[in-house]
Amino acid sequence: MDEGLYTKVSHDGVDTNHHGAVTIPIYQNSLFAFENHESFDQAMKDVLAATVYSRGNNPTVQYLESKIADLEAAEKARCFASGMAAIAGSLHALLRSGDHVICVNQAYGPTRQFLDELSERYQVEVTYVDGCLLSDFEDALRPNTRLIYLESPTSGLFQLQDLEGVSSLAKRAGALTMIDSSWATPCFQRPLTWGIDLVLHSMTKYFSGHSDCLGGVVAGRADLIDEIANKGYMLFGGVMTPHTASLMIRGLRTLPLRMERHQRNGLIIAEYMEKHPLVNRVNHPGLPSHPQHALARKQLDGFSSLFSFETQVSVELLKKWADALRYFRIGVSWGGFESLVTVGQTPASRNLGGTNPSVARLFIGLEDPQTLIEDIEQAWRQVIEA
Ligand SMILES: Cc1ncc(COP(=O)(O)O)c(C=O)c1O
Repeated sequence: MDEGLYTKVSHDGVDTNHHGAVTIPIYQNSLFAFENHESFDQAMKDVLAATVYSRGNNPTVQYLESKIADLEAAEKARCFASGMAAIAGSLHALLRSGDHVICVNQAYGPTRQFLDELSERYQVEVTYVDGCLLSDFEDALRPNTRLIYLESPTSGLFQLQDLEGVSSLAKRAGALTMIDSSWATPCFQRPLTWGIDLVLHSMTKYFSGHSDCLGGVVAGRADLIDEIANKGYMLFGGVMTPHTASLMIRGLRTLPLRMERHQRNGLIIAEYMEKHPLVNRVNHPGLPSHPQHALARKQLDGFSSLFSFETQVSVELLKKWADALRYFRIGVSWGGFESLVTVGQTPASRNLGGTNPSVARLFIGLEDPQTLIEDIEQAWRQVIEA
């Protein structure tokens, strides 16, 4: 990880507007009043930049947006009420009826659902591709392809897409590229430096880091972010509140520190799981056994701590194992301080010799990894001995 990130998240310069306060105050107000009508009229001509109404701009939120733009090497960023608000708002703003979208088939479920809604209601055509090979995108391109939507790594099977390859392919075809980079955060992946046009995050995850608020962000070229702000932000109204922005700013201060710990803990547990006799396969891009490990090393600066393992143990038994864990909570989401687990079945596409294996997704928190390993072992013993 670039050590300079630590300085970027810690340093704000001196804020002479707020008595030298070392953190930006929470502007807990819905509107901004003007001294005279002339300055009001002036501000109304530039609602994308002026502070008129907090559904457009709010200084606490704007401050967070400028910090994220800096971390992502983006011209601009916009923060939303949730990751899905950022995804849906951006897709809705950029797509028109008759456009074609290529999306990876392992993208976050509600993202696919939203694209399917656009397809059904507004005649946006969608092609889902595996995305592990560049040719998957090449073969799916059409003259009306407006957007290629990526999620790398994906958050179930942890598949990667070649960011440099896809972005140059899209540029040649005149299509935009957008990526959900929530897994990596800007600490471990900066997609714009590989030529991707827009990067999205569910800030609910690692940015917040404390499992106590929801948020989303999109960052990229100023003209695209302004289009999204005009059509997908102000009109839908799914904006981030100033109070949430202040929690996110707090989370941001320790993001690199936490990500280093998550990386270390995640790899320790993934390596342990890989040696376990009941485990067939561990889906973690940081392991040399991952089929795209070389690509991971090229385009990621590190690895976060969400991964899955596959096993021939039945889903029922695997759920009992999850129940027996003491330090892993059963729950969706990830990116907080606490370790989590969910159990399911791999998709049908993973069918190995007639059966598709059970899968457990682990999120490794900030705990002592030895405690987590002992927990996993005691839970296996309980299940196997029962
Ligand atoms: C990969 C990914 N992207 C986007 C989202 C949506 O984010 P939010 O829950 O903040 O709307 C999630 C949520 O789990 C996610 O896992």
